[in-house]
Amino acid sequence: MATIRSVLSKTDLPAAEARTLLAHLFAHYFQLPKSALISRDEMPLSGPFLTDWQALEARRMNGEPIAYLIGKRPFHQIELAVNSAVLIPRPETELLVDLALQEMARLKQQNPAAARHILDLGTGSGAIALAIAAAFDEPQEAISQPRIVATDLSAEALRVAKFNAVHLNLDQHIELIEGDWYHALPQPLFTGTFDLILSNPPYIHAKDQHLQQGDLRFEPLAALSDGIDGLSCLRTIIAGAPLFLRPQGFIAVEHGHDQLSSVLQMMNRAGLQAVKSYTDLAGHPRVVSARKLN
Ligand SMILES: C[S@@+](CC[C@H](N)C(=O)[O-])C[C@H]1O[C@@H](n2cnc3c(N)ncnc32)[C@H](O)[C@@H]1O
Repeated sequence: MATIRSVLSKTDLPAAEARTLLAHLFAHYFQLPKSALISRDEMPLSGPFLTDWQALEARRMNGEPIAYLIGKRPFHQIELAVNSAVLIPRPETELLVDLALQEMARLKQQNPAAARHILDLGTGSGAIALAIAAAFDEPQEAISQPRIVATDLSAEALRVAKFNAVHLNLDQHIELIEGDWYHALPQPLFTGTFDLILSNPPYIHAKDQHLQQGDLRFEPLAALSDGIDGLSCLRTIIAGAPLFLRPQGFIAVEHGHDQLSSVLQMMNRAGLQAVKSYTDLAGHPRVVSARKLN
């Protein structure tokens, strides 16, 4: 009779990956936590459990990302549902969230009662928008809760973002709009509205070999690359920002490790000021922020 112990001893997957997949099945079949993999490692496993295990194991052996197999990924202080319609949120994008929270803290000091507006362009699973909304979802923070507009070109991605917003009980703080970058925003309704514009756009060069490697092979191509030089979405987002930012408004965008000088030029060309670069945990330039002065 197969048990967790025998399954773990037979699989070719790395032990940590096998445990994550088995924990997912344990939660699904028995509503048991991951620790039960140890405490019940001799429990006989049913036929359906083993069939599901073999299917997950085969998909993982084929390279499919763990996050898609178990349908979720932690990000900042929240957990997001993900599927193959959305980019799997990356740890480096948490930098954008932290910068946004710092900027919100600065604004709160200036005027605690002012209503603040944030735009997340290309929201995917809702990662950036929802991580920020979650940070204000405490009774003592309620007064500073920003209104967040999150857009995406992909209706399928927005369905995932909507699911996450409802599941995290944050949907009352977020407006999801489908459309191509700023074309999603009716004017003049949104002109000069936002205190913060944030985006992690598709920035991989169409010819980058990484698109054919690892997790990226399974993620939506339109979430990874602009199909050109990797810079066209950044150009559109940065060039359009002054029209939608309030005076003193703040923009921060994620970019590729070799795109810093191009992004700095774009910020300067758009007339944005106080341009700053930030490195990710691996020490690569990863985010540039700037401010509209008036
Ligand atoms: C790199 S993913 C980022 C997803 C999410 N913000 C995150 O950080 O995990 C880029 C997102 O931009 C969206 N996107 C691509 N082209 C777009 C466009 N022209 N207008 C709006 N969104 C677009 C993709 O569908 C994708 O969800």
